[in-house]
Amino acid sequence: MIVKAPGQALTRSEILRWLLETDADRLEELWGAADEVRRATVGDEVHLRGLIEISNHCRRRCGYCGLQAGNSRLTRYRMSAEEVLAYARLARNLGYGTVVLQSGEDPGLTERWVTNLVRHIKEETGLAVTLSLGERNPQELAAWREAGADRYLLKFETSDPELFRHIHPPLPGENSDPFQKRLGLLGTLGDLGYEVGSGIMVGIPGQTFLSVARDLELFRELDLDMIGIGPFIPHPQTELGANWANPSGTPAPPASGPRAANRPLSASDQVPNDELTTCKVVALARLVCPEANIPSTTALATIDPAGGRAHGLQRGANVVMPDLTPLQYRALYEIYPGKGLSTASPEAEQARLLALIASMGRRPGLGAGERIRRVSCAAG
Ligand code: 5AD
Repeated sequence: MIVKAPGQALTRSEILRWLLETDADRLEELWGAADEVRRATVGDEVHLRGLIEISNHCRRRCGYCGLQAGNSRLTRYRMSAEEVLAYARLARNLGYGTVVLQSGEDPGLTERWVTNLVRHIKEETGLAVTLSLGERNPQELAAWREAGADRYLLKFETSDPELFRHIHPPLPGENSDPFQKRLGLLGTLGDLGYEVGSGIMVGIPGQTFLSVARDLELFRELDLDMIGIGPFIPHPQTELGANWANPSGTPAPPASGPRAANRPLSASDQVPNDELTTCKVVALARLVCPEANIPSTTALATIDPAGGRAHGLQRGANVVMPDLTPLQYRALYEIYPGKGLSTASPEAEQARLLALIASMGRRPGLGAGERIRRVSCAAG
């Protein structure tokens, strides 16, 4: 029994059982349950959020991300406020309800600059504004909220504090535990009145099934408004990517030592960074947080160009984030290989997504597409 009455949450062992399930027929039950809960709570609308990658400068040295400060091969850019505003207008003209401003953790995007930008975008377009600018201090986050920013995305990537510390080393002089700091910021964002988004990567080297089960429990505890889930994709100019034994995209060595081909998966095994496992986590995220806005991510579409986007939408997701970043910058926002290669115009990308949405019997979302509260996910 997967679909439970409100108040009856999936237990950790049920979550784990689904994460470890390999039988295709049983998995159909999971996809069906996630799709049913998606339809009953957030409905058939698929919200399109226009994504603008405003700067690829970053002060961090995250072990997974191609934008990390040590990547000297990357040409860095920062869009001007006028450019960002022009693309926010484009988002509005295309009929999107939300613009997402994303960047590396770039101190060059000062508190004042972002404040003015948010104010202009809100005044001129009326769009919902989502920020995804990394770990910034509470004063900056408060100023941007005051200026009208509606939502903030900050993934915790993994709920395993030790793995998080390994992949997300602190800045010089940063003494607090990196994972606790991130959780603290997610709390601050909620207190400031932002809609809060977080999420994880699936298949980080060293990530076990048990730890992903805990990630899902943490989504529920945080009562997230938005949850982004994508496969880890190794980038050669990063620590995790350079050590990646198997560049074909098949699983990294198990966290608990080699697994015999015939042995069933176990809770302490390495999580594969594949499409199937990512879809399981998307489906389970829908079941544990029925009301959340969940994108079918670009990373999922990158590892499975033919089916990834549709699978995400059929297995719990209700959001897509078309990339509006100007073409001259798009390829430079290379958080992982294969991203930003599309040279489709914003109009062509929109037409493609609308056709996909219609082919699944769904419809494009109208308005801002904020989280609608029915039954609190935390109570579930
Ligand atoms: N593979 C997959 N996702 C990545 N991200 C960054 N680097 C990678 C990678 N190598 C994701 C992280 C981050 C978001 C901006 O992009 O989840 O939060």
